[in-house]
Amino acid sequence: MLGNGRDWWQVPRPVAPVLDVDSLMKAYPKQRALDGVSLTIEAGEIFALLGPNGAGKTTLIGAVCGLVRKTSGTVKVFGIDLDVDPVTPRYQMGLVPQEINFDPFFTVRESLRIQQGYFGVAPDLARIDELLEALALTSKADQPTRALSGGMKRRLLIAKALVHRPRLVFLDEPTAGVDVELRRDLWAYVRKLRAEGTTVVLTTHYLEEAEELADRVGIIDQGKLLLVEEKTALMKRLGERHVKVRFASKVAALPAALEGTLSTDGLSYAFVEQPAVGPRAAEVLQRIFSAGLPVADVSTGSAKLEDILLRVLKQGKAAT
Ligand SMILES: Nc1ncnc2c1ncn2[C@@H]1O[C@H](COP(=O)(O)OP(=O)(O)O)[C@@H](O)[C@H]1O
Ligand SMILES: [Mg+2]
Repeated sequence: MLGNGRDWWQVPRPVAPVLDVDSLMKAYPKQRALDGVSLTIEAGEIFALLGPNGAGKTTLIGAVCGLVRKTSGTVKVFGIDLDVDPVTPRYQMGLVPQEINFDPFFTVRESLRIQQGYFGVAPDLARIDELLEALALTSKADQPTRALSGGMKRRLLIAKALVHRPRLVFLDEPTAGVDVELRRDLWAYVRKLRAEGTTVVLTTHYLEEAEELADRVGIIDQGKLLLVEEKTALMKRLGERHVKVRFASKVAALPAALEGTLSTDGLSYAFVEQPAVGPRAAEVLQRIFSAGLPVADVSTGSAKLEDILLRVLKQGKAAT
């Protein structure tokens, strides 16, 4: 018994981050695929890793999942340094690889059962059925995997990555080639995983996907993390708002010193609100109304994550 009336096993242990990457470097003969990446990921979040082709996303995932041999740096998963013990954490990790790779001779259900065996979990047919259902593969369960379409193969890869109930899942371009409706179902499923406490690291070309799912966003280019930020905060900080006003009749000139532009036909006005600089959209609209301009319609639109990504990448390039 300890002094505080508890046994040692009752003392809460400090919770290590699910993933803790420090100064990770991966050098290939011609370039550095990872150039000093440091990143911490906490339990239960959906983290989206974004960046152009060749930025180092798959290499980073590979280094964490033991598929790529790092040049230097440390990777800890669930608090365990992979240099000390690369095996134990693996049992609680799942990976949906970017490339489709599985044995074409087994059926869908067989390949999921084999995967459970591979991870050393007891056969759990309920889990397999649940995943088949969630990924709309139930009707294909007894077909050989070679008979699946591209989108179905990708869904099977997702099922395989989840069949042993991992605590940390990497989804590398999970919805490439998946139909639009199914993509929405997958998003719902990823949210359900998070609700169950699973940590999800996602890379994607569909910025809409990251916008929809991510709690935090990391932007990587040329092996360097340019930014890591909570998604809503990022969009608030860097998101521009567009305002468009349509006039009922031709307007000859804007009120003096009003920002924004009048179209050449005098029938519309456009303004981009930039966070932290220049006037707010509301002020600009107020001035238009109080000047008595013949406003017919007002529309506003928010910046997409895509615009923000492009801007950060451009600034990153300018800084190097
Ligand atoms: N096996 C390899 N040999 C040499 N270069 C590689 C290898 N794998 C990846 N690279 C290079 O490393 C960089 C990062 O690749 P990758 O991590 O696949 O990028 P992403 O997934 O962001 O598109 C790219 O320039 C790529 O060409
Ligand atoms: Mg990749």
